[in-house]
Amino acid sequence: MQLDRDDERILAGEQGETKQKMLELIVALGKVFGAERLVPIKSAQVSGASYKTIGEYGLQWLTSLDAKAIVPAVLNPIGMPRERWEEMGVDPDFAAKQQAVVAAYERLGIALECTCTPYYLRETSFGDHLAWSESSAVSYANSVIGARTNREGGPGALAAALVGKTPCYGLHLEEKRKPQVIVRVEADTRNWDISHYGALGYHAGKLVGNRIPFFSGLESATPERLKGLGAAMAATGAVALYHVEGVTPEAAQGLFELSGLEVINVETGDVERLFKEIPVDAVAVGCPHCSPLELGEIAGLLKGKVVTMPFYVFASQGVIDRNQKTVDQIEKSGARVFADTCMVVSPVMEQYEAIMVNSGKALAYVPDMCAAVARIGTIAECVKVATE
Ligand code: F3S
Repeated sequence: MQLDRDDERILAGEQGETKQKMLELIVALGKVFGAERLVPIKSAQVSGASYKTIGEYGLQWLTSLDAKAIVPAVLNPIGMPRERWEEMGVDPDFAAKQQAVVAAYERLGIALECTCTPYYLRETSFGDHLAWSESSAVSYANSVIGARTNREGGPGALAAALVGKTPCYGLHLEEKRKPQVIVRVEADTRNWDISHYGALGYHAGKLVGNRIPFFSGLESATPERLKGLGAAMAATGAVALYHVEGVTPEAAQGLFELSGLEVINVETGDVERLFKEIPVDAVAVGCPHCSPLELGEIAGLLKGKVVTMPFYVFASQGVIDRNQKTVDQIEKSGARVFADTCMVVSPVMEQYEAIMVNSGKALAYVPDMCAAVARIGTIAECVKVATE
């Protein structure tokens, strides 16, 4: 693998043991995947941030490191809101451990924005090389923005943040970004909201696995709906990049050769069968974290109403701060808008038996991660159920 002078110095230990080990990790990963060189990155997004998922060993490893990020880097959602954890009902022992994890990342120069939607906070552009690790963020960056990132593991993304480079293979390379299967949606999608796109992703992810799908027939795609589609496909499959005919930036260039690819047909019933009316004892929306537009929609639907069961809305702190009036409107109903965490990574959600969501990814993960039944509905249905 080609390495430059700076890389050689880091590998010789001239910038400390942590950076030396981190570059060794990057080079080893690159060799495994056949990378010929490293590529400088614009930003990193580091998973392995919730104490619920990394536990004591993860915390000990983080505290043993000593270096600083040299590119902008943010964290994945953690197990609780940094500010309002008591209000959310987080156990103080868990909170202390989670705060230690956050402090360890802060010492490494990782910004304490704990979110799966870093693209709402910092400009990310077509062609940017990134080292992001949360699967929905990776999918959005590659597909909707046209940036380039593999799905990094937590340590790989952290190493890239500290060294400023990642191995150049896979989705960093133009030739590895071409469609491998066509998903033809044979349904009237004009009235679909983000939950339908999530349900489509839930269904399609199982069929396409780790291939790059090219969607046709989506007539109502918006960035938020595509966010829901990609998040779900990354959960039930391993899709890190997809294209949508005439919509996503690489597909809009019209350069793809599609002849000879397998075609998977998806019909209305494949999506609608996932919308089951079962009783729930909580509602949780914002998977992936809400955009300003979604917060506005939720505020509008909750206006003048009072929730009769716990209603959680998740968004990044930066989006909350910039939309505080909208957040206040939502909270007037009794719903709560929490930053830094989500329905999957917070242990608080384990107290419920059945949770209603508007996300295909949450539909896939809530049963295992929260030991609860998951029901999917539109955001309007979520509000109706929570205010009946
Ligand atoms: Fe984000 Fe948590 Fe969903 S990390 S994509 S809100 S499971």
